[in-house]
Amino acid sequence: MDERPIGVFDSGLGGLTTVRELRRLLPGEDIVYFGDTGRVPYGGRSAETIVKYARQDVAFLRTFDLKAIVIACGTVSTTALEVLAAENPIPVLGVVAPAAAAAARATKNGRIGLIGTQASIRSGAYERLIQAQNPAAQVLSQPCPLFVPLVENGRFRRGDIVIETVAAEYLAPLREAGVDTLVLGCTHYPLLEEVISAHMGPEVALINAGAEGARAVACALEGADALSARSRGTYRYFVSDRQEDFSHLASIFLGWDVTEAVGQVDIS
Ligand code: SIN
Repeated sequence: MDERPIGVFDSGLGGLTTVRELRRLLPGEDIVYFGDTGRVPYGGRSAETIVKYARQDVAFLRTFDLKAIVIACGTVSTTALEVLAAENPIPVLGVVAPAAAAAARATKNGRIGLIGTQASIRSGAYERLIQAQNPAAQVLSQPCPLFVPLVENGRFRRGDIVIETVAAEYLAPLREAGVDTLVLGCTHYPLLEEVISAHMGPEVALINAGAEGARAVACALEGADALSARSRGTYRYFVSDRQEDFSHLASIFLGWDVTEAVGQVDIS
């Protein structure tokens, strides 16, 4: 048993897809969330910058006495997981390996689509992990650089002309290639699940990296006998820019009001 909180971080709002699943699976856990809303998006930046930002994010979270850190960000998980895991004395868990494993299991025709940020696609991490589990799988990748800024600006609803137009352009090649499974390789993308599903068709299985990451965290903590014994945990959220913007969108997305639990910090 371990009553310390779990630290979760992302470049912005996307990691809330992991928080939502963690709350469903492990309602007794205390969560400290950091969203680097002052510097989002990370996905178009160099590996060096992503590692630098990720180290600062972790240094902030480590001001709390945590039992584990979850990198609820596809970009940081593909680019900085090894560095962060080596530098920290508590478990650091990412979302990429669990999502790749789920995709390798889910495909029936061996054609897996992958959408992610430029940095995630460039890293080749998803392909490597998928093919390690399913060597016959073919991975068709599509970077989607506009998705994160649109989500961060609240443009994630079905019918929104801007997101629908961008989604049509990004997703058409994957649909035409006949993928039967699509990895939402960035934790922001599950907020677009309805939009993406409408463009891909109901027969395409969508793999939610944020939720898969949360399931892996639940298994790891259970395996280490490090779950909390509480029945209900607490949630604190920190952001690096205007807390009002985050509170508004986070409350809509999570389905509970986070306003009183959000604080702003100077991360640099
Ligand atoms: C980004 O900040 O560009 C995306 C975060 C992610 O990959 O999950």
